[in-house]
Amino acid sequence: MKNTPVNIAVCNQKGGIGKSTFTVLLASYLHYVVGYDTLVVDCDYPQWSIHAQRERELAAVEKNDFYKLLMVRQYKQTGRKIWPIVRCLPTETATVVADYIEESGYRPRFVFYDLPGTVNAEGIIKILSEQDYLFVPTKADKVVMESTLSFANILHKHLVQNGAFRLKALYLFWTMIDRRERTPLFEQYETVIRKLGLSLLQTHIPYRSKFNKELLSTGEGVGRSTILAPEKGFARDAQIEALAEEILEIIKQQ
Ligand SMILES: Nc1ncnc2c1ncn2[C@@H]1O[C@H](COP(=O)(O)OP(=O)(O)O)[C@@H](O)[C@H]1O
Ligand SMILES: [Mg+2]
Repeated sequence: MKNTPVNIAVCNQKGGIGKSTFTVLLASYLHYVVGYDTLVVDCDYPQWSIHAQRERELAAVEKNDFYKLLMVRQYKQTGRKIWPIVRCLPTETATVVADYIEESGYRPRFVFYDLPGTVNAEGIIKILSEQDYLFVPTKADKVVMESTLSFANILHKHLVQNGAFRLKALYLFWTMIDRRERTPLFEQYETVIRKLGLSLLQTHIPYRSKFNKELLSTGEGVGRSTILAPEKGFARDAQIEALAEEILEIIKQQ
């Protein structure tokens, strides 16, 4: 069982909350910085946004010597190749991943699944039930919280607490925190989260414009890239390092 990868989904039924962003950042951080072989499975049909980002980034590298240099430098310093990505329909995910692992010989320690923002599409509940950990980004906004809590509560009750599935835990985490937001608001929401018996990560992710920066934007350094590690300063300031370390700690404890 030691070689069985840890399956992780950053998920929520809410769109635009950072599912794909954190999937990319955590995959890149764990793969390029910490050194764990990682695979990303993009089942967010029909956008396949992470796969599309990877293609954009590879095209940008093709055209730009500076990016080429960054990639070569990263490879020389870390010996890490870029993490592979497979793109598939939700209903075909299990077969596509099994075939990929069998054919490539790649043995990832972590597999991240990027899912559509709906649990109603065919195959999604099955993928969720095959995860080891679910991490649910949320922000202190009434509409987002209502939707997130109902999503997290249903999955927690039916998948995590049901011993028949592989799922070990579901954690919510705060993101897009504005500097001006007040502590009492978070305390109120956290009381509700606790009352529902849900868990919350300690790491708080701030709102930072750099989350929107891929490799494509020149001059401002690397933000959310699929081929390069997030810049050290950004990883620290935006709490990506803390998020990855907290997640690794949770996994180690199991
Ligand atoms: N903490 C953050 N601060 C600022 N922008 C963020 C943050 N997290 C995500 N974003 C931005 O929010 C947008 C939606 O994120 P995305 O990951 O595509 O959401 P989802 O996959 O949940 O639909 C993206 O433009 C992303 O860069
Ligand atoms: Mg997405």
